[in-house]
Amino acid sequence: MMINLAKKEKNNIDYSGKPLVPVRHMNFLFDAEEMDHEFYLKSEQASAFFEALSIFLTFGEDLVIDTARFHRDFVKDPVLKQRVTALIGQEAIHSKVHDEWNHGVLKEYNYPVELYKSIGSFFMENVLKKLPQPLKLSMTAGIEHFSAVLADFMMKREGYFFETQDEKQRAMWLWHMMEESEHKDIAYDLFQELSGNYYLRVLGFAIGLTIMSQTAAMSTITPLYRKPSKVFSYKYWKDAWRGAGLLFGVQNGVYGSSLGHIFDYLRPGFHPNDHDTLDYLDYYKEKLLNPDNGILVPYLTKEMIPAIRG
Ligand SMILES: [Fe+2]
Ligand SMILES: [Fe+2]
Repeated sequence: MMINLAKKEKNNIDYSGKPLVPVRHMNFLFDAEEMDHEFYLKSEQASAFFEALSIFLTFGEDLVIDTARFHRDFVKDPVLKQRVTALIGQEAIHSKVHDEWNHGVLKEYNYPVELYKSIGSFFMENVLKKLPQPLKLSMTAGIEHFSAVLADFMMKREGYFFETQDEKQRAMWLWHMMEESEHKDIAYDLFQELSGNYYLRVLGFAIGLTIMSQTAAMSTITPLYRKPSKVFSYKYWKDAWRGAGLLFGVQNGVYGSSLGHIFDYLRPGFHPNDHDTLDYLDYYKEKLLNPDNGILVPYLTKEMIPAIRG
């Protein structure tokens, strides 16, 4: 039987069964002196990827926020509408906190914050903002897929984030990825509800893949930008090689070991919840938010659940 992929993919979802997502306000009170430049598995190069991601992701989140806001008005289901509001709220706080980190800490150490921001702004203003809304919505779902892949990787390899003593940077990434996992199906459901066109979904994925590849490529210049003389250092090249393996290695690389999950998005009928991470999410919520000893508790200033409106 032929499947007409240009036709709307089915989205027979009963949103009333989905959990309501809260918005958590955070204040990490970052202190530049506490920063570990080899935060990720003692590799400066691999850590530089996370720092580049911290800068570039603020543009992705602004795109998600604007696009979700625009499309929320067309949603009829009150629970999906509430979940879209929660997605907007969570992403707004991610963007704010990462900006605090980028400007309050990374800039102190001569990371290329302004350079990366000017590249991100140029691309955002001249390309992304000019795209038609349906494609922006598809890109939003694509970007959220890559966030979910990273969250999945991090939750399954908890130990990788406990090798550093940099508690606040760890808490920031654990918090962010916990919430990416918590809201991983919202943009996708929104896209499927309002469009559902398979080819458009694939196009949004391809653009998301390009953005993620560019972020990884750009991050390679960070250590040399900070200290050009490293180009003559054997230690630098050794770390650069190891860092590439930590990102793209097939066994344990952030993206190299996630290829199956990444490209599963191309499967007709794919849904983010096909990758069941609820047990991991429950475990992390307990570990991060337990009022007695939760890692995030010292930084959590307010938590609220957006109201359901008909
Ligand atoms: Fe986010
Ligand atoms: Fe997200």
